[in-house]
Amino acid sequence: MKLNRRTLNIALAAASLGGLLPATALAQKKIVLGFSQVGAESEWRTANTESIKASAKEAGFELKFSDAQQKQENQIKAIRSFIAQKVDVIAFSPVVESGWETVLREAKAAKIPVVLTDRSVNTKDDTLFVTFMGSDFVEEGRKAGRWLVEKMKDQKGDVNIVELQGTVGSAPAIDRKKGFEEIIKADPKFKILRSQTGDFTRAKGKEVMEAFLKAEGKKINVLYAHNDDMAIGAIQAIEEAGLKPAKDITIISIDAVKGAFEAMIAGKLNVSVECSPLLGPQLMSAVKDIKAGKPLPKRIVTEETIFPMEVAAKEFPNRKY
Ligand code: AHR
Repeated sequence: MKLNRRTLNIALAAASLGGLLPATALAQKKIVLGFSQVGAESEWRTANTESIKASAKEAGFELKFSDAQQKQENQIKAIRSFIAQKVDVIAFSPVVESGWETVLREAKAAKIPVVLTDRSVNTKDDTLFVTFMGSDFVEEGRKAGRWLVEKMKDQKGDVNIVELQGTVGSAPAIDRKKGFEEIIKADPKFKILRSQTGDFTRAKGKEVMEAFLKAEGKKINVLYAHNDDMAIGAIQAIEEAGLKPAKDITIISIDAVKGAFEAMIAGKLNVSVECSPLLGPQLMSAVKDIKAGKPLPKRIVTEETIFPMEVAAKEFPNRKY
């Protein structure tokens, strides 16, 4: 006879009640976690996926992993499929902030707890998810802004900035812009000449930087990129335009992945604000707590720092992603 998960559980429960199985057999039932990932757009995302997969394996969970290729419709489909499969917990990193209410209500109606990792959603109903774990993106933008204000404190004339934004409508793009602007607006010499999305990818970062250089040329003093991959793509564009990255144009980015450290060590990137992708262990421990009926805080914030190029060579051996 072919047993599906439900009939197997009923059989195990009946056997246990009848004293045929020790209680520990029931406890050994694997927790099933459905995880919908944004995509594979950046070095950060690859490290995040590895962290989730490795930690699920270590925790002994059955992981149903789905890559949405940066499309919200794919994430919604994946979540619906997790609901249909009656997984124990659903976790996901929402590609954009809005448009989740309907599917989250479906999960709630099916009594499947939802954990948000890395990126949040903007919903007024916070009963639709158990907890949100990840970075404070507004603070990351502020850290980038504070570093720039300090670096340019003696500069008398205008500081002309171009900005490479992340995916349109995503929490990190919205919040990193907000935090950065909050700091630089205190001094009118800081001017954002152009701001456009590079979708968090190297290829788009390069393409948009080429357009910025064509339009503004040597007027550009600073590039603020919402992630390292776009900064690395832009560095190529800057070099191809005959300019020196990190010298002719000051470059600030976010994530602090190994690729950014290599660029800093090569003297091509000035600073990277840390955003940790290593959320796997925290997620698995939250799933265990949910299954054990333990309460969780609504927000779990990742602790992070900032790495200027001067410390890159010393820090590089300690980097895990
Ligand atoms: O949500 C985190 C962001 O998504 C990272 O900064 C970026 O690299 C990734 O694609």
